[in-house]
Amino acid sequence: MQQDRLWNQWHPVYKADELKEDPQQVFVLGERVVIFRNEEGVHAFKDLCIHRGAALSLGKVKNGNLVCAYHAWEYNDTGECVKIPALPCERPIPKKARATVYHAQESFGLIWVNLGDDPDPMIAYPEYDKAGYHTAICGPYDVKANAPRIIENFLDVSHLMFVHEGMLGDEDHAEIVDYDVNFIDNRFITSKIPVYQPNPDGRSKGGYADYVYEILNPTTARFTKTTEGSDEALTILATVNQEDDEQTKVFMLLTRNYDLEQSDDSFIEFQDTIFYQDLDIVESQKPELLPLDLQIEMHLKSDALTIAYRRWLDELGVETGTLAIDESKRSKRKKVLN
Ligand code: FES
Ligand code: CO
Repeated sequence: MQQDRLWNQWHPVYKADELKEDPQQVFVLGERVVIFRNEEGVHAFKDLCIHRGAALSLGKVKNGNLVCAYHAWEYNDTGECVKIPALPCERPIPKKARATVYHAQESFGLIWVNLGDDPDPMIAYPEYDKAGYHTAICGPYDVKANAPRIIENFLDVSHLMFVHEGMLGDEDHAEIVDYDVNFIDNRFITSKIPVYQPNPDGRSKGGYADYVYEILNPTTARFTKTTEGSDEALTILATVNQEDDEQTKVFMLLTRNYDLEQSDDSFIEFQDTIFYQDLDIVESQKPELLPLDLQIEMHLKSDALTIAYRRWLDELGVETGTLAIDESKRSKRKKVLN
């Protein structure tokens, strides 16, 4: 069962600065997971105490160990149970007394969890550490939809003029010029797509912006917006945690190289507004599972990027509901799709 899914991918689960001393419960691909922090960093276990099945997330962190709330069994950060208070001290702790440990990592201001034995590399997001750039974290947004529908909405250029009319688009400038989609360095990347925007980031500076979209993995995509004749760049990374078959959490990183002295609040507020404009649409889409058969639904040339995305998911063997992955298909991934 476990091997069938996107088990080796990193999933964003929490804002790093919000994980303090208390352990927290998160869900990843239907798994109940506890994350906690100690001096060594962040850790993730299956959220289940092997003694009587209580959620370890109800417990606390003591001396760097995770202590179960029920009978205070104490697990160190490698998952080994190091203390059982009910056990007379001359008796050894059974070897079987262990928590199931997952991989956890703190990157780009988020906590990421990986359930697999053979973790994929973490995505690259070079703007995060780049001098002169600053990142604000938006979300997490709770969405009752599947990750591929959400990623596809993020990659969809031709809705900007309607769903985000007056902000990211203008109904009188709805035509999309032809653009290229290439597969380079293990990711999809488009050529520049010009979009007329009355108010591209909430600063009411209208004009044409060029979008370059990239798809980094089945649940993570980004775009960078630039304007001709200006050095200003805004990158938005959207990464989705499929908590279970129906529920997702969306995190967005907004990285800008301008107005750095300004607080993040107005940028986050603007992004919240944009996100909630998309929410009703995305939650309304049927079928809920993104159809990977291109005979289903209709496609225009302007949908080239989302067509590439659907083909790629199909090639990866990702079933869009449970994000199940067929490993035999995965090795046959094609290099270029156009
Ligand atoms: Fe966790 Fe008993 S259930 S210590
Ligand atoms: Co939108």
